[in-house]
Amino acid sequence: MANTLIIVGGQFGDEGKGKIVDFLAEKADMIVRYSGGNNAGHTVVSGGETFKLHIIPSGIIRKNKVNIIGNGTVVNPDVLVDEMENLEKMGLTVNEKNLILSSAAHVISERHIMDDSSSASSKMIGTTGRGIGPCYCDKVVRTGTRIGDFVKGKSGTAVSLRPFVKDTYSIINDAIDAGKHVLFEGAQGTLLDVDHGTYPFVTSSNSIAGGALIGSGVGPTKIREVCGVFKAYSTRVGGGPFPTELGNESMTKEEDSVDMLRKELSAEGFERLLRKTVIKANEGDAYTQGRLLRMQGYEYGTTTSRPRRTGWFDGVAARYAARVNGMTCAAITKLDVLRNLDKIKICVAYLINGKQTGNFLLGAEELSKAVPVYEEMSGWKEDISKARKADDLPAAAKNYLGRLQQVIGVPIGIISVGAGREETIPLGNMLW
Ligand code: IMP
Ligand code: MG
Repeated sequence: MANTLIIVGGQFGDEGKGKIVDFLAEKADMIVRYSGGNNAGHTVVSGGETFKLHIIPSGIIRKNKVNIIGNGTVVNPDVLVDEMENLEKMGLTVNEKNLILSSAAHVISERHIMDDSSSASSKMIGTTGRGIGPCYCDKVVRTGTRIGDFVKGKSGTAVSLRPFVKDTYSIINDAIDAGKHVLFEGAQGTLLDVDHGTYPFVTSSNSIAGGALIGSGVGPTKIREVCGVFKAYSTRVGGGPFPTELGNESMTKEEDSVDMLRKELSAEGFERLLRKTVIKANEGDAYTQGRLLRMQGYEYGTTTSRPRRTGWFDGVAARYAARVNGMTCAAITKLDVLRNLDKIKICVAYLINGKQTGNFLLGAEELSKAVPVYEEMSGWKEDISKARKADDLPAAAKNYLGRLQQVIGVPIGIISVGAGREETIPLGNMLW
């Protein structure tokens, strides 16, 4: 059987996929980005340095890996060149050996970006404004420009990208046939998938595991494992239904970014605000519970620095995600962020017009009316970021994970308790 693994976001994006990819990439020979563009923001912390990636696969941070930007992606050539230069400035090597760009990926133009930032629908959805939707639109109506054609041009960007461009389907399939470890890196999340997400509040590509096949030119029989990445709670950037949201979108939008807060307040001031927030959250104020998750989890967009909407773990949506991706395992990230809470809730069903259901709803309007049915579990106070094996975790955290595993319906393979590579607990039950 092929040594392949697809890593997908199980929620609304920002699950910490970049970190899980980086961790699992140790074993990989090749890392393939298959969908989306520079709407994604993957943060990877390694050796005390923070790398922010938007279009280049997270495998670039490790040496001797082949990184592929697949045919399913949309690429802004200037952004790609900038990202390559920034990585080189940080001491990494980026060359035609470790980065390959599919000739069939589509080019994001100035016009795409303009259309994305001016249209009323983009504003309603709260897109990242990077031209993603208009570019995929041109692709599907067959008026787009592919990278292979773009690099035939004479512009400086075209010339500098030319050596990186190849037909990547053969390179990827050759690697799989040779028994190499090939990792497919998802962007965004299941609930942002254009077919399976909360349409129209979605991105314009297939972020689920099926998208990995289309976005790379690999057949379904070649995939061995699908790992879904879930944050231990939920977040969402931009508009759209969010059943387990704490507080509401407009309150969150008005909040300062954490950078602003840190600038305005001294370190002690920030700690004082955090302590106050903990007290109010444990008095039961839902909005403040969400704010606590935002502050402790640094929930501000990597791409747009917008404060993210936060909420409890949505087990109904998670089970749905497990099914539409055919997940074989799950990774739970940011477990450490749940500290300081007396009680933690998990949504296990929705009430729709007074009727209980365990099924996710595809209609955005229907979903926005779903009332979550919660189970309450004990929280913990401890900072668990030093835990290196499951047994190091407090009993309450272990119970919470046990319940998450039941609710999602697939075994948990990895737990993440911090941003660093070492702040990861592999449970030894993945095939990879
Ligand atoms: P677009 O992908 O820029 O068209 O944005 C469509 C929706 O997807 C918006 O709600 C964005 O906030 C969301 N989105 C796109 N990329 C990401 C991501 O990488 N993380 C989280 N949300 C995203
Ligand atoms: Mg992100």
